[in-house]
Amino acid sequence: MLKGKKILLGITGSIAAYKIITLTRELVKLGADVRVVMTPSALSFVTPLTLATLSKNPVSSTYVSDEHYGEWTNHVELGKWADLMVIAPCSANTLSKLVSGECDNLLMAVVLSLSCPLMVAPAMDLDMSDHWTTVRNLNTLIEQGVLVLDFDEGELASGLVGKGRMKEPETILHAIEEQFDRKSNLKGKKIVVTAGPTYEAIDPVRFIGNHSSGKMGFAIAAEAADRGADVVLISGPTHLSTPDQLERINVTSAKEMFDRVKEHFSSADVLIMSAAVADYKPVNIAEQKIKKGADDLQSIALESTQDILAHCGEVKQNQVLVGFALETENEIENAKKKLKNKNLDMLVLNSLRDAGAGFGTDTNRVTFVFADRILPNELKSKLDVAKDILDELELLV
Ligand code: CTP
Repeated sequence: MLKGKKILLGITGSIAAYKIITLTRELVKLGADVRVVMTPSALSFVTPLTLATLSKNPVSSTYVSDEHYGEWTNHVELGKWADLMVIAPCSANTLSKLVSGECDNLLMAVVLSLSCPLMVAPAMDLDMSDHWTTVRNLNTLIEQGVLVLDFDEGELASGLVGKGRMKEPETILHAIEEQFDRKSNLKGKKIVVTAGPTYEAIDPVRFIGNHSSGKMGFAIAAEAADRGADVVLISGPTHLSTPDQLERINVTSAKEMFDRVKEHFSSADVLIMSAAVADYKPVNIAEQKIKKGADDLQSIALESTQDILAHCGEVKQNQVLVGFALETENEIENAKKKLKNKNLDMLVLNSLRDAGAGFGTDTNRVTFVFADRILPNELKSKLDVAKDILDELELLV
């Protein structure tokens, strides 16, 4: 479950920091990719060398490294990298900063740049854990959706006995696993996702293609795999690397994509056609490279490709079909027609009129069109759009 998961451990100044050595080791053993950020006071409790050795990654505690003058740790990059950040132990000081947003060290800068869930395992002495500010701060974190692992009770470093101990590493590990073991309706479902452009050959060296980058389809495939679906990603030519835990099939032309979709469709639960499939292909592919002549090349005769989605709409049994559409005018009206004509359950509508949407960008603004409702969305990263699409799909399967 944790294989390939990117876990960012934040360590703050508390004696419980030594327990994170065990947690780091266990996470790495389970296949997680672990990186560690420490506050300056955490350095008094455990050494970065220990954690760097166990995590197999450099440990960061400051923006700028003393040894490599001019190199700086990019907190935004770390914040965007993680699938989950766990601050353990979380001292009373860091807890307070999490609530106020005070940003006076690298760990806090990373927190403010996070785009993944945050888990916090507080640790402090008895009176501190009972203090009204601590109680209030923890409640605020819970209200904000932070996953708070409440204190354990027992012997404390001060010799007092009571509430304040950090949860044991195995309990934190269990909570991390639970976080990734989301209850999803898509778990175990076979989801076929198409992505990228198709290339229709004119001659051995030329083709008709389009600007689709494949980013949207790859993001959908990755998110579906993350939710436990068995994903088959059928991709046209792209430079994107294959997300973890899915089967990738590379194709070039619309015909090849059609053949591979047909192969998988009958056993699939869902088909998401996010590929920009060519609507036309050359009638004849020249066997030799077409030579430049004295006259203009007047025309290349084209014929329609098979509409893959329309075919699947005709033959579908219980499969859920999701199509994409790029419209430039009468968007909703055209999208509704497409939904009906192709027998789709959901249509993801892009409008070329929206800035930041469409080919090549990392963002997209889409509207979901269903038979009975229309759901507009804000401009978002393609990763977030993928999540939104799959949230809707959870209700359709
Ligand atoms: N599609 C397909 N097979 C094709 C062409 C498109 O499966 N040969 C799929 C695309 O993957 C997408 C949807 O159909 O999910 C797009 O529908 P389409 O009617 O082709 O939309 P447009 O290309 O926008 O068509 P038009 O130009 O007619 O509006």
